[in-house]
Amino acid sequence: MAKTKVKFICQSCGYESPKWMGKCPGCGEWNTMTEEISKPASSRRAVFAHSSQTLQKPSPITSIETAQEPRIFTNSEEFNRVLGSGIVKGSLVLIGGDPGIGKSTLLLQVSSQLADNGNDVLYISGEESVKQTKLRADRLGVKSDKLLVLSETDLSFISKAIEEVNPSFVVVDSIQTVFHSEISSAPGSVSQVRESTAELMRIAKTKGVAIFIVGHVTKEGSIAGPRILEHMVDTVLYFEGERHHTYRILRAVKNRFGSTNEMGIFEMKESGLEEVENPSEIFLEERSKGAAGSTVVASMEGTRSVLVEIQALISPTSFGNPRRMATGIDHNRVPLLMAVLEKRVGLLLQNQDAYLKVAGGVKLDEPAIDLAIAVSIASSFKDAPPKPTDVIIGEVGLTGEVRRVSRIEQRVMEAAKLGFKRAIIPEANIGGWNPPADIEIVGVKNVAEALQKTLGG
Ligand SMILES: Nc1ncnc2c1ncn2[C@@H]1O[C@H](COP(=O)(O)OP(=O)(O)OP(=O)(O)O)[C@@H](O)[C@H]1O
Ligand SMILES: [Mg+2]
Repeated sequence: MAKTKVKFICQSCGYESPKWMGKCPGCGEWNTMTEEISKPASSRRAVFAHSSQTLQKPSPITSIETAQEPRIFTNSEEFNRVLGSGIVKGSLVLIGGDPGIGKSTLLLQVSSQLADNGNDVLYISGEESVKQTKLRADRLGVKSDKLLVLSETDLSFISKAIEEVNPSFVVVDSIQTVFHSEISSAPGSVSQVRESTAELMRIAKTKGVAIFIVGHVTKEGSIAGPRILEHMVDTVLYFEGERHHTYRILRAVKNRFGSTNEMGIFEMKESGLEEVENPSEIFLEERSKGAAGSTVVASMEGTRSVLVEIQALISPTSFGNPRRMATGIDHNRVPLLMAVLEKRVGLLLQNQDAYLKVAGGVKLDEPAIDLAIAVSIASSFKDAPPKPTDVIIGEVGLTGEVRRVSRIEQRVMEAAKLGFKRAIIPEANIGGWNPPADIEIVGVKNVAEALQKTLGG
């Protein structure tokens, strides 16, 4: 019999060591090493069924036949888009999110839609009894007989159930409750999570079934367990939102079958999650029009343009070093843009505190929002409100020039759709596309010109 070995594994990064240590050398966290008994190597199986048995020859890439990977479509446009237009058969998707944010609700709803469309669906819950799942299903109005539920945590029974039912869509809620009976450590530990995920990956690939697993998140907001988990799966989704708002954002952070940075927006209602078709409206909902320091930018989220409000508050520093704070945007952009405003436009900002915020809790990380940030800062500093019907788009360079951005047409179209009257865009972006008739296009070459056009000097 193969010998079992004891090892110590960091629960935060997966670092392994033969002896216990107080501080993990891998990630530097304290008190994260726990004892786990490792499984004999012989019982490990490869993810791809044939790879260990038959020797495969390398073949020229041009001779490999491809087909569009088959996809299953849900009724929810938002959900399909986040996954890169539909669920890929044989893919393993990890979905993480804060407790109570609505992960089980979302997946039960998707399961129900797929079952309604004639797919066999298996919903496995390790956290709730079938009765609890049924209570939620009643609230969501689930009716299909093709949706089977199971309350199980033992991985061998889970794989048997998948074998018997032969579904096309499986939900495992959550990976932290699943355990592999050959591994002695507790469910939720690094070895358990890793081995269970590998086994589910093997099932997904060999049977061509799409498996969604729910992952808990840590205090810092990343998926609990080793980072390795995110490397193993095909797609990682985060379901986020503020506790105080009913809006929830589903975001792809990794996707082997589509673009990342796509997001889907849902609203939590008594009857479940409802998709929000026009996100720009909700991000601009509470805007106080005509306030100094507030501008609107058309930013790209994946393939979709959304309009978001950027707010700045500039106030004199009372003591010590001036503060620079930013939520929702890269905080390094703020001092950089302030330096540009100071040097190229002549605004005296060095003894001013600056607070920047993207309204609505979204995070923006593209350079096209630079100009809107700069105008917001200048507007708050001068106490001069920009026109509430202006939308501002452009990247700012270190010499104060306004640089070209991608997908200008789509951004301007979205602004026109929501009733904006004027778009301030980079001069270099003018021409080569057809602007909508009901919006005035103003091209600017540098920040000074943009300030002159929006704030009047
Ligand atoms: N009767 C109800 N009416 C409206 N909303 C409800 C109702 N019951 C539950 N909810 C909402 O559903 C949320 C719980 O959703 P769900 O159980 O899907 O979350 P979860 O992410 O799976 O949580 P966990 O991490 O505990 O598994 C609650 O936080 C609440 O907002
Ligand atoms: Mg749940």
